[in-house]
Amino acid sequence: MTAPTLPPFDHTPAPYTGPSKAEVRELRSTYLSPAILTYYRDPVMIVEGKMQYLYDETGRRYLDGFAGIVTVSVGHCHPRVIEKVNAQNELLQHTTTIYLHPNIARFAKMIADAMPKDSGLTTCYFTNSGSEANDLALMIARLHSGSNDVIALRNAYHGMSPTAMGLTALHTWKFPVLQGIGVHHALNPDRYRGHWGYDDRDAGGKYAGDVEDLIRTATPGRIAGFIAECIQGVGGAVELPPGYLKRVYDAVHNAGGLCIADEVQTGFGRTGEHFWGFENHGVTPDIVTMAKGIGNGAPIGCVITRKEIAASLAQRLHFNTFGGNPVSMAQGIATLEVMHEENIQQKAKEIGAHLRQGLDSLAKKHDLIGDVRGMGLMLGVELVRDRSTKEPAGPETAKVMELCKDMGLLIGKGGLYGNVLRIKPPMCLTRDDCDFLRAVLDEALTQAAKS
Ligand SMILES: Cc1ncc(COP(=O)(O)O)c(C=O)c1O
Repeated sequence: MTAPTLPPFDHTPAPYTGPSKAEVRELRSTYLSPAILTYYRDPVMIVEGKMQYLYDETGRRYLDGFAGIVTVSVGHCHPRVIEKVNAQNELLQHTTTIYLHPNIARFAKMIADAMPKDSGLTTCYFTNSGSEANDLALMIARLHSGSNDVIALRNAYHGMSPTAMGLTALHTWKFPVLQGIGVHHALNPDRYRGHWGYDDRDAGGKYAGDVEDLIRTATPGRIAGFIAECIQGVGGAVELPPGYLKRVYDAVHNAGGLCIADEVQTGFGRTGEHFWGFENHGVTPDIVTMAKGIGNGAPIGCVITRKEIAASLAQRLHFNTFGGNPVSMAQGIATLEVMHEENIQQKAKEIGAHLRQGLDSLAKKHDLIGDVRGMGLMLGVELVRDRSTKEPAGPETAKVMELCKDMGLLIGKGGLYGNVLRIKPPMCLTRDDCDFLRAVLDEALTQAAKS
């Protein structure tokens, strides 16, 4: 196997002096829940990160094509983010929202300012994760509408708390315990595997018709809301078709419900064209949830909505101990400042287009590739054994991932059949990194097809 060479990078990782990889594996298997899985037959141990690169305990460098599951937006340990968060750590680490602190107030304004003008999306509530943000968004929608019924998409992923898990219809991500009460699942508008394909110009409208049917037939008429990612992340980079959200949002509003955009993966410029994924569809949600890239690696989540909707939550006491703490907020503020200063969205657009070109060229060469999709730096490559039957190439996908890792590239995997390569790097990726990524994938696909 000829391994392509990583682009040069001027950084020397600190010598690693901690427990060995074998010791860490032993500690994990003794003291950590067996539910916490690792990628790869021989898992990598990552002990340092710098911008788009990760380092293992031996000092080996990897290109991070998955950004720590899309959490790192502007680059691992970006110096300006680290400087500000370190300064905050030395001053005050933990206060609750029952006292005033400038960071939470400043960051809320910055998030509100990043929303489309005239959207009315100005009122923030900070949490510590995307699951918490979606839980809260659902509760707000239910309180505001006075209804319990919610519509979500099959193949969606909104988190692992019981309420968020109840929004998915997939057994892979769902435990057989009571959850998802009042949740109705609409057809997944997947133009690769679904009923209406890329060649159907009205696919968006046809899939939206299913949501309209659900509202008419499966709910009491009045609904609490609708929630969707505009590009499904864990679900394998499935993009909502043009026209879909517009028609669905109209139907939901007519039924008294609120539209929730889950921007946990698609937000903060990742889709390139716009700062928020929903803007690609010309719609304005009533509630937006975010997490992951908002904090460049810090555990931050946020729900933003209009003032009158947020007021529903004030009927009772509602409280989140760590949500909005000064350290997380310092990291959020610094991350958003860097996004604006370094024009991260434009980078996602330009570098994403270059990467996409590379992936499209691989699709011409490798029969294993059934579909390449996504926007900006949120891309997916679906692998199939046969392009006409679309038989998922699950084992081949796992093999490609292993081979990529061996050649110094870390990427993710997703989709219902575990056959979609998920490529969502930190948005400081360079053209040379893209060329490396393409070359590694090329070699891995060649090897995987042979085995
Ligand atoms: C679209 C989406 N929503 C919500 C979540 C849940 O976020 P968290 O893992 O921070 O709870 C995820 C996590 O992958 C996600 O991809």
